[in-house]
Amino acid sequence: MRPAWICLSQNTQILYFIFFLSNYTQAITIQVERSTITAPVQASALFSVDITCTGTPGITWMFRSVSRQHSIAAWTFGGPANVTEMYEGRVQTHPNGSLTVGDLRLHDSGYYTLTVTEASGSSKDACMLLSVTEVLYEDIQYFIVFIIVLGLLSAFLMLCMWLLNKLHNYIKAWRQRRRLPEHNETELQPL
Ligand SMILES: *[C@@H]1O[C@H](CO)[C@@H](O)[C@H](O)[C@H]1NC(C)=O
Ligand SMILES: *[C@@H]1O[C@H](CO)[C@@H](O)[C@H](O)[C@H]1NC(C)=O
Repeated sequence: MRPAWICLSQNTQILYFIFFLSNYTQAITIQVERSTITAPVQASALFSVDITCTGTPGITWMFRSVSRQHSIAAWTFGGPANVTEMYEGRVQTHPNGSLTVGDLRLHDSGYYTLTVTEASGSSKDACMLLSVTEVLYEDIQYFIVFIIVLGLLSAFLMLCMWLLNKLHNYIKAWRQRRRLPEHNETELQPL
């Protein structure tokens, strides 16, 4: 009797072979939605990824910049996330492996690396760049307030000058009237 696998047609054997091969060569795929993200200070950034692999992988997010390098969060698919202390409260991990970093600061600019590790030990990385930009509208608000204050101050000074001028004219007229009271009366009398 011939073994069962020989009974399979050659085409089916090739298909099985391709199936196994593709399973081994494409064990992990990571699709990054946006590899460069720009966000203003205090906003949040979503590092959106689509992971396909066999089994339940381990997810690790790392941060790297010129001056610093540290882990952000690590978890196994479906399990609770272990968030690094300095990111607690402002990092959100998603079931699909994505990461959201909130309340952004300028020093959050840098590279965010995702590492997906399978139970077999094989792993794959994906890297994303985040640049945090300073908020300009706050400066503009301060500038507008400064201009308004300056305008009000100059209006007040102009009012003061006008009042002083009025007062000066009034005093001048009053002193003239006091100095020449007879004149006025003598001038008026003939009428
Ligand atoms: C992953 O999940 C997050 C939160 O549910 C979602 O915003 C994001 O679009 C997802 N990413 C992909 C690639 O599906
Ligand atoms: C969480 O991470 C810290 C530091 O990376 C590690 O010491 C700790 O064992 C981790 N905890 C769990 C439950 O994985």
